[in-house]
Amino acid sequence: MKTILTGLRSNSMLTIGNYLGALLPMVRLAEKHSKDNHFNLFVPDLHSIISDVDGGDLQANILRNIKFYLAAGLPLNENVHIYRQSHVPAHSELCWILNCTATMGELNRMTQYKEKGEGKASVNVGIFDYPVLMAGDILLYSATYIPVGEDQFQHIELARNLAERFNNRFGETFVVPATTREQVEFMGMSDGIRIRDLMNPEKKMSKSTAAENSKIMLDDAPAKAAKKIMSATTDSIGKIKFDMWNQPGISNLLQIEALVTDTPLQDVISTWTGETRYGELKKKVAASVSGMLEEFQARLAEISDAEVYELLEKGEKYANEVAAKKLLDAQRAVGLR
Ligand code: TRP
Repeated sequence: MKTILTGLRSNSMLTIGNYLGALLPMVRLAEKHSKDNHFNLFVPDLHSIISDVDGGDLQANILRNIKFYLAAGLPLNENVHIYRQSHVPAHSELCWILNCTATMGELNRMTQYKEKGEGKASVNVGIFDYPVLMAGDILLYSATYIPVGEDQFQHIELARNLAERFNNRFGETFVVPATTREQVEFMGMSDGIRIRDLMNPEKKMSKSTAAENSKIMLDDAPAKAAKKIMSATTDSIGKIKFDMWNQPGISNLLQIEALVTDTPLQDVISTWTGETRYGELKKKVAASVSGMLEEFQARLAEISDAEVYELLEKGEKYANEVAAKKLLDAQRAVGLR
């Protein structure tokens, strides 16, 4: 059995763009692969504290984050393991060992670190070391596939390099994760679908946009979400065509409809191409989106904290067993045991 592993990062409420573009695809991957592979979904809470977080909020966010995946339909079979990084001490310990093989030069080259540190007088060491902790997250479980967004590819590449370097120096210890190309193939990359901002469809929908009507949040009342779709920016061309360049607003609506109703985009496009009544399209998309939110929110409300804690207890028992073994291998290899 191979291991597929990913970190469920999310420190705030999500938009339907995050839901449709990241969360649901992950749930689909789990549905597809968890019968004959381990599927580890963990909360990288040690990574979360590289920026200031209020303790209470972090706990609430962790719970909510896991509930989102459950409400989205994450399969819960014996191969799906949900755990919190900070509840598996081997992550911190392996991080230190890997720190002693990683170089300042390679961490200095990490794009995310450069972006986060840009223009700041002082940057905490956690931000700098973040990719090494992440490499440990992956190597502890001998994960082969690590479905993540493109912004994380560089970190996966680092995990591969550290694993190979360690193996060469101290003997075969870690499974080297698949190459970026293999990762992309495995994920069947969501053809770069990005839900756009409803008011400014040239931009990606973002949870940090101030304008309320630009984005639909997962906790928006369904009727409110429908209104936002009805007032979405379109164009004055007057004929529906999937054309991101000239008709980004209309194209965005077609994409949302395809994703929400789980219909191939091509089918949605052929249904609507040539139609002249934008209002009809908006009404259809508004109904689809509000229906989806209603269902999602109903499922979310049914998941109790106790249920999540029970899953975590089970997941963390499994994770500690697997991780402790691999950590011991690494400790032996470098001579600490
Ligand atoms: N860095 C990832 C992100 O920002 C989260 C993460 C932490 C992760 N550790 C990981 C993802 C290990 C995959 C594997 O999204």
